[in-house]
Amino acid sequence: MTKAEAKKRIEQLAGEIRGHDHRYYVLDRPGIADAAYDRLFRELQDLEAQFPDLGAPDSPTQRVGGGLRTAFQKVQHLQAMLSIDSLMAADEVLEFDGRVRKGLEVERVTYVAEPKFDGLSVELVYQDGVFVRGSTRGDGETGEDITGNLRTIRALPLRLLEGGVRPKGLIAVRGEALMTLAEFEALNRRLIERSEEPFANPRNAAAGAVRQLDPKITASRRLDLYVYEIMAAETFEPRTQTGTLDALRGWGFHVERNVRVCDGIQDALRYRDELQAKRETLDYEIDGVVIKVDRRDWQALLGMRSRSPRWAVAFKFPPRIEVTKVLDIVVQVGRTGKLTPVASLQPVDVSGVTVSRATLHNEDEVLRKDVRVGDTVRVRRAGDVIPEVVEVLKEKRPRGTTAFAMPAKCPVCGAAVEREGAYHVCTNGLSCLAQLEGHVIHFAARGAMDIAGLGGKTVKQLIEQALVKDLADVYALTPIDFAALEGFAEKSIENMAAALEASKQPRLDRFLFALGIEHVGETVARLLAEHFGALAPLMEATAEDLQQIHGIGPEVAESVAHFFASKRNRKVIERLLRAGIQPVHEARAKGPQPLAGQVMVFTGGLEGLTRPEAQKRAEDAGARIASAISKRVTLVVAGPGAGSKLDEARKLKLEVIDEAEFLKRIGGK
Ligand code: IVH
Repeated sequence: MTKAEAKKRIEQLAGEIRGHDHRYYVLDRPGIADAAYDRLFRELQDLEAQFPDLGAPDSPTQRVGGGLRTAFQKVQHLQAMLSIDSLMAADEVLEFDGRVRKGLEVERVTYVAEPKFDGLSVELVYQDGVFVRGSTRGDGETGEDITGNLRTIRALPLRLLEGGVRPKGLIAVRGEALMTLAEFEALNRRLIERSEEPFANPRNAAAGAVRQLDPKITASRRLDLYVYEIMAAETFEPRTQTGTLDALRGWGFHVERNVRVCDGIQDALRYRDELQAKRETLDYEIDGVVIKVDRRDWQALLGMRSRSPRWAVAFKFPPRIEVTKVLDIVVQVGRTGKLTPVASLQPVDVSGVTVSRATLHNEDEVLRKDVRVGDTVRVRRAGDVIPEVVEVLKEKRPRGTTAFAMPAKCPVCGAAVEREGAYHVCTNGLSCLAQLEGHVIHFAARGAMDIAGLGGKTVKQLIEQALVKDLADVYALTPIDFAALEGFAEKSIENMAAALEASKQPRLDRFLFALGIEHVGETVARLLAEHFGALAPLMEATAEDLQQIHGIGPEVAESVAHFFASKRNRKVIERLLRAGIQPVHEARAKGPQPLAGQVMVFTGGLEGLTRPEAQKRAEDAGARIASAISKRVTLVVAGPGAGSKLDEARKLKLEVIDEAEFLKRIGGK
């Protein structure tokens, strides 16, 4: 191919890919199959590699590039990023309207009311339609240059579409980077699986993602971006806020459709109430509405105060915060031995959810907030997550309270506690019953050994009665042992025995996952299984061997090697094998692959198959299984009792089929 031909093809490919990105990430209407998209993308990457000087900075291949940074540069905004006055009461909004009408000397004003996104405010700068710089709000005048990270957000156009008005010259757009609730929950699940600290709310998660020094991490967090203001434009002057939103949409940005043009302030108040009622059903967090004078010439007439415009206000929703009392602070011990202080609270209703516990994270956090037993505190529910103590009402503190201190000994087993970074951990390993309990529950769970009926309650009893002291004891249990437990009648004892028997040939990767090795989640377990194909060679692998595997870093390699080097762990594994456990590994992709390329989610019940069986069959047919609904999912199998996942799938207009249709597609009965 000549250079001229390459140039033409590169432009053509980039244009096509941009169009597909916009359909997929902004319009939610994919126009092409994943595989076909990947082909276009790879062709473009290859050509750009062959002709490096033809690569453009706004090429779709440049979403992740530039590599690691050591710090963010400070940048001055093109236009100061103002804040808005936040109001909490309808009366104050009426006063705002009064001031606006008086200032303009008019009877009635058209407002535009929009959701107030609870994300991270960013400035996006375009030069002749090409994205050249993005920054955080900072102090309003200067922010941090996070261009590389923002590029990874698919909803951000790297080049403004040419339909509509062509934006020449410099343009600064303001918007909000945020994380959807689905993405947030999936991220937290991954973090918890790796024994890392989950984020308290989507806003923190988005902020964490945007401020990563490595854009690859930002990319993996899949942020979304909505825009709502043109802060500066050299050659384009919208006449209204409505016109601004239309122009932004035309340029290819993600612009919320849930906005209302309001004839007078009462209309805006109604919109706010309606939106509040819908708040819990949106797939991202909002904390109020922003009410803006629609006409830009009127905005200019009204002008601004020192830090905020006179033509806009934020009318916030009431916070999901309530006041209650701390009855106790208990310290919980997790599967990895981590000690977490938890406030046990007088139950209180926080916008429809009863809250009786709140996490206090770690000792530093408790001391920083100085939470004590007997205190009156504010608790908040943020996103769909663990409630947290916001602050102590010190004036209500009774006499004679004492500051919290982390116990020097594990509250469960009495062994010494050590500090590791911000956390305290019990040093007793599996001899600590709390760690053992967490381990056994994990071991028996779905996706691991999948022992039906062996849940938290039963495990607790088995451990209390000293029937289970390590993982291998699970398979030494007899019907007589179960008969001694509460809630076990003849039928359930039979079922339990059958479930134990049925779980004896786990897939190798599930077996590895079940062992509860630190840093070995489902993904790493699969990599290990694929690489070694059997347990024995894996058990002899050194950390160096393990690091050779693509996708496994030094920390994970170290942890795996360390686990299998332990005499005690080897003994447990030996006993498991002697009890008849036979991990099996089948190299993938033997038969026909009718579901190749599909990303599938199962939700609700199945009649003919168990969930693990169905998933295995789907994988054998070439599909990948996801645990949560997202835009990447291509096929959903829904059965009786399917709930929120099905709703989410419908919202994203994903293909949904039932069990019978699934069986038909994989060629089964
Ligand atoms: S307008 C000069 N519209 O809320 C007015 N702000 O202080 C500029 N926010 O951090 C802001 N959603 O980033 C506007 N639809 C929306 C918004 C919005 C969220 C943020 C904004 C700022 C804060 C208000």
